[in-house]
Formats: sequence, structure tokens, C-alpha cells
Amino acid sequence: MNILVVGSGGREHSISRKLLESKHTTQVFVAPGNDGMCLDEGIFTVAIQETDHQALLAFAKEKKIELVIIGSELPLLNGLADDFQKNQILVFGPSKKAALIEGSKDFAKQFMQKYQIPTAAFQTFSEYDLACAYIEEKGAPIVIKADGLAAGKGVTVAMTIEDARLALEEIMQEEKFGKYSKKVVIEEYLEGEEISLMAFVDGENVYPMEIAQDHKRAYDGEQGPNTGGMGAYSPVQHISRKYVEEAVEKILKPTAKGLVAEGRAFSGILYAGLMLTKDGVKTVEFNARFGDPETQVVLPRLESDLVEIILDVLQHRKPTIHFCQEGIDLGVVLASCGYPEKPHLGEQVTGLENLSSNTQVYYAGVKKDNQEKFVSQGGRVLLLHMRGKDMQMAREKLYTEMKKLDNPAFFYRKDIGEKAQR
Ligand code: AMP
Ligand code: GLY
Repeated sequence: MNILVVGSGGREHSISRKLLESKHTTQVFVAPGNDGMCLDEGIFTVAIQETDHQALLAFAKEKKIELVIIGSELPLLNGLADDFQKNQILVFGPSKKAALIEGSKDFAKQFMQKYQIPTAAFQTFSEYDLACAYIEEKGAPIVIKADGLAAGKGVTVAMTIEDARLALEEIMQEEKFGKYSKKVVIEEYLEGEEISLMAFVDGENVYPMEIAQDHKRAYDGEQGPNTGGMGAYSPVQHISRKYVEEAVEKILKPTAKGLVAEGRAFSGILYAGLMLTKDGVKTVEFNARFGDPETQVVLPRLESDLVEIILDVLQHRKPTIHFCQEGIDLGVVLASCGYPEKPHLGEQVTGLENLSSNTQVYYAGVKKDNQEKFVSQGGRVLLLHMRGKDMQMAREKLYTEMKKLDNPAFFYRKDIGEKAQR
């Protein structure tokens, strides 16, 4: 099959690499992709933006694409899956209606309330004064979220009322998130450990993957602003299976069922961000796609054929899903200085030629300059991935490699996976 992947990040690179392992795959095209991915034999980038539905459809027809996989959230919320479906092209990714579970925090919270899916208490506001009065009443810590896509950056976990007020001002008065600045969701602060659970979903049927742990804050020790994710590992061995089972039964399955009942049946990857609180597992957020960077550490562990799993899900069969049972997969993101607020772009990435051959590089915000050198063109530049027999080995090996990329234009967290060693 010729397969088209839509998106441009490390997640799409790792999906594409996994697809190439399948006996069903001939070529993988990625639109728009990035220049780093093209180093892989069999991956071809296509200069079409993920928002250009007409051009994507025309390309798919011209190249006789037999399967489209939508990696990122924006095209899903723009209805790209619906458009491929209307044109009888097989597409993996939820409809616009189903993707709203990610696209609107307010919708997701109202939905969870209606279907009694465990999550933090909340209220939604579109007036600044009322929102301010609510945070005064509730006190800190408290969590402020812009009601829309903000690439993981629209959330402030405010430890003081002052920080909460500042976050409200930025969103509601300075309109930092453009059209997504009109409404804010204000949530109770949840305390506990966070994990990411992704599942293949076909209507009411849920087929979970191995869990991963992301590291959302920009700096070591969970300091600094929230980002899209600075590193991840899988599996998360110190988290008991019983929490995962609880999350599948009380969160993923009722969500899939509720979406069917709402006329928003989900087909694709449902991602639940979960907090393991002392009162049980609670939902922090839903995404309607694979997580980034979780995918870069979960998919390498998948031993079953990804194309077969996707075809099974699309054709309503139960897929066979096996994950590697040994070792730990660890991934650390190299980010541009200034990320997530204002990443400095156009900086040359150095040291790639010194990486050992068993390090996997998943490219994200990179392009080749006119001297054929990779320069940064996004906040998250790339992720290095390594498997170790345990976390200590994985960290030793991976951080030895990361050091080779040391460069004042970039930064990375030094404590990815540390929690699993305690
Ligand atoms: P979200 O985009 O909703 O996943 O939020 C981004 C990050 O903010 C999450 O991964 C958590 O680390 C943190 N966060 C979000 N909601 C809460 C909450 N209610 N309590 C504590 N932390 C939260
Ligand atoms: N790593 C979090 C996300 O993909 O949204």
C-alpha cells in the first residue's frame, strides 16, 4: 500500500517508521513532513500543508493512496477525516465531531460530567470578572485552561491566586490564544502522578496500548511553563496495572460509549492524560490522536503490524496488539531556546554525525538550509530515542548521546525518566 501520513513532527516520523516495518507498506508519504524524515529510505515528504484539504485529496488520488493516517489535531478538527471519507479514501482518524473531545476543553468537561467520567471539578467562564471572582472564591492552587487548541501551552497550573489572575489576563484580556481566548475552563488542582494512556478506538470498542509518562514542564524538576512534552518513556513499571485497568473501565470505555451515544462515534486513537490521585484515576485531558512525544517511545515497542491493526480497527475487527515485554524505551526532546514561548529558529543543529548507530532520531522542527545542514524551524527540534534493559541503562546511554548535541542554541531536560528510578 501507499500510505499518506498528515503532520510534520516527531510523532509522524515515528508513525511512518513503524508503517515501513509492515509487509503491507510500499511507500510512506508525509505531508508536509520535515526534512529530517527524508533520511529514512521509503519516507517521502510532500509539500502540502495539513490545512490544504483540496491539495491533500488531489495528491491521494494521483498517487493512489490506499490509507491516510492523520497525525495532528488541527486537520482533525478541520474535518480532514470527513473529507477523505466523503471521497471514499480509507482514513484513520476521528471525524470533526468526534475530535471535539480534544478541540474544546469545555465540551470535554461537560461530556465527562454527563457520563460520570472521573475528572477535576470545573467551571467555564467567558467573562473575565466572573472568572476572577471564582478563583478568589476557590483559592490556589488552581488550574486555568484556554478553551481550544494551544499545543499544550494553554494551561497554567497556578500555585498562587496572583499567577491565576495573570493567566486569566493573558488569555481573556490579551487574547494570547486568538480565537481560543474567548472561554476559559477553571479546574480544581489534582495532585498525583501523571500517565498517558492511548488506545485504538472503533466506536464502543477500545484496544489500549502500553502506558507512557510524558514530561510536560519545560525545565528539570517540573519547573517552568507547560510545553507539548519534553520527553517520555514507556512502559511505566512503577505504576500498578490496576490503575491502567481502572482507567480503561472507568474512563476510556465510557468515553467511547458516550461519544457513540452523542452521535460522535470515535474512530482512531483516543489519548487520555490521567492523574493518579488518592481518590482514584482522574482524566486531565483527552486528545483525538497519538501523543507527541509518547508515540516515539510506545510505537517502537509495538511488535504487531501497525497497518494490520489500523485496517482491523477501520473494518471493525478485533486487532492483535503485542508489545515488547523487555526493557524501557526512553526519549528526550532537544528544544530551541525560548520554547515554548518564543523559540529561536534558524539555528544549526550540531553533533548529529557523532551519534551512535543504535540511537534513533525522530525529527520534528528541522529543515535543511542552503548548505544542506539541519537548522531549527520549530520549538521541538528532534527527539533521541534509546532502549535500555532498565531505566538506569536507558538514561546512561541516552544522555551520553544527548551530550553530543550540546549547543547553546538548544536545551533539553536532564531528568527524563528519573522518577522511574526512585
Ligand atoms: P492539559 O493540556 O489539559 O493536559 O494540561 C497540560 C498539563 O497541565 C497536564 O499534563 C498536567 O500536567 C497539568 N494539568 C492540567 N490540568 C490539571 C489539573 N486539574 N490539576 C493538576 N495539573 C493539571
Ligand atoms: N504529549 C502530550 C500530547 O501529545 O498532547
